[in-house]
Amino acid sequence: MTAASAPPPGGNKIPATLIPGDGIGPEIVDAVVLVLAALGAPFEWDLQQGGMAGIAAGGDPLPDATLASIRRTRLALKGPLTTPVGGGFRSVNVRLREEFQLFANLRPAKTLVPGGRFDNIDLILVRENLEGLYVAFEHYIPIGDDPQAVGISSGVNTRAGSRRIVRYAFEHAVKLGRRKVTLVHKANVLKALTGVFLEAGRLIAEEYKGRIECDERIVDACAMQLVLNPWQFDVIVTTNLFGDILSDEIAGLVGGLGAAPGANIGEKAAIFEAVHGSAPDIAGRGIANPTALLLAAGLMLDHVGLTGQAHHLRKAIDDVLNRDNVRTGDLGGKASTSDYARAIVQRLSSGV
Ligand code: NAI
Ligand code: MG
Repeated sequence: MTAASAPPPGGNKIPATLIPGDGIGPEIVDAVVLVLAALGAPFEWDLQQGGMAGIAAGGDPLPDATLASIRRTRLALKGPLTTPVGGGFRSVNVRLREEFQLFANLRPAKTLVPGGRFDNIDLILVRENLEGLYVAFEHYIPIGDDPQAVGISSGVNTRAGSRRIVRYAFEHAVKLGRRKVTLVHKANVLKALTGVFLEAGRLIAEEYKGRIECDERIVDACAMQLVLNPWQFDVIVTTNLFGDILSDEIAGLVGGLGAAPGANIGEKAAIFEAVHGSAPDIAGRGIANPTALLLAAGLMLDHVGLTGQAHHLRKAIDDVLNRDNVRTGDLGGKASTSDYARAIVQRLSSGV
């Protein structure tokens, strides 16, 4: 495991960077901070700016002070950031991935509210976050008077990067008591690019033989099987672009991005967030659903070894949604963000 995931020394506070972000960000971050305090989570928040607030304060959506804070704490909970249109800003998420070598993107998908198209979904997707076609090594070749007649892109997968992501997936499976890891690839066609990943994956899988089962799928077949019989999968590990596509597919299996958390894990830091954006259409109205960010906070607790607290948090969310039937508008309820947060706090403090 990476140094960034070492459990905290007993009883001590855990410094962590908190970025409220834009749009609904501050509203859902407030709800999460309230719930984590009720849970007794030992995070000591270092509040930092990002996104439009960062631009307003100093002209940068990812200010130096925010980077310095994450460098110190190695742990961050981040609200959604609005991507400024124009102005030549590089994506904050890409800058964070590169700066902290956040090589693993973790996207669990679990049924929260039964009665959807698929019930009892409980999948984890582990996506390689730094290599593949996302290195965007691209150019055009002109033909005649068309300067962009041919578009070319080269992907890069390294043996070291493939080993690292597959090992992370297996270690994560062991840590969470999961049974199987599926390697997803396209090595029948992209023999070098995804063959490197598959070969490295098979070797790592050998080390876990007898503890964690391993199987393989070609990505297109996997996409189909995910909608025919998603229950056959447990942990899926794959390269960057396939992971991008399949992670949205598995979010769709559990009703969309509204309750999808994500974690970006690296050697130097780990950053937790909701998958959804800043929802400018409902910002400032106190009606946003904080569940995705709460589940991201649950992943953060898992990451620092506080799996008991993570379990309590997920149980309280389940109870509030399905026993108390307190839900925000996007899930068909009438609760405000703070009603919902208070209902979770109530569940946590009543201990049932
Ligand atoms: P979005 O995810 O913000 O919103 C899509 C739809 O889902 C909207 O109707 C919104 O009201 C609803 N929604 C999203 N989260 C919700 C929540 N927690 N509770 C209730 N409803 C919710 O996607 P959109 O509109 O495409 O992007 C808005 C901004 O967010 C853009 O600037 C985009 O670049 C940014 N963004 C940032 C991300 C990040 O920081 N990780 C990820 C995705 C988008
Ligand atoms: Mg995506």
